[in-house]
Amino acid sequence: MIDFHTHILPKIDDGSQKIGESMEMMRQEAAQKVEMVVATPHFYADQDSVHRFLKRREDSVSWLRQSLAGGSAPSLRFGAEVYYFPGIGSAELIRQLCMEETSVLLLELPFCQWTKEMFREIKTLIKRQQLTIVLAHIERYYAYQKDLTIWNEIFALPLYAQMNAGSFLHRQTRRLAFRLLEQMGTVVLGSDCHNTNSRPPNMQKGWEMIRKKFGEEKLSEIENLEKRLCGT
Ligand SMILES: [Fe+2]
Repeated sequence: MIDFHTHILPKIDDGSQKIGESMEMMRQEAAQKVEMVVATPHFYADQDSVHRFLKRREDSVSWLRQSLAGGSAPSLRFGAEVYYFPGIGSAELIRQLCMEETSVLLLELPFCQWTKEMFREIKTLIKRQQLTIVLAHIERYYAYQKDLTIWNEIFALPLYAQMNAGSFLHRQTRRLAFRLLEQMGTVVLGSDCHNTNSRPPNMQKGWEMIRKKFGEEKLSEIENLEKRLCGT
């Protein structure tokens, strides 16, 4: 299967800080039978330019690729976790942050009550820029939505939801994670791993919990959607 959301590239964001750490994270992904890892470093438009980000990502990628050469690591794809900003809908450079060779953009929304403006910007990304939007770790925003009107409007758009494997593991978050997965039907899964200790790759444990609750069929649906979005 695919780990759709990771901070596994070395020294590019608040994820892995060392090449050795990235390699250990890749080893853990392989041990969990992850076949493809999508590297999605944070992109913040108020701190970075698309051009600078892509250059740093290229450097980080070639460093990791060189270090992994000859081994049997999962395949790597490159994208970004793009943080929302007002105006993102018409910012055409954003397309360059899609997962390579796709028009799939992993979008992180603010941790607050969602607004009409956010809905409009997402709609513009989909309709005008023709991007395929995947909303990152949807379960993490839910508690902020005291009014679910915009939440419902956003999920009525033709977009996809990503959930973190870890949300299915912890007692405090599991119930909501199961409920949202049921509501969404299908999602893509990511570990959102940042390191080897406090936020390690944990896809396998997440799949096991989902299998136990919903059966093998749900995992197949997730896998099919992930493969479709990755164009594999
Ligand atoms: Fe993330």
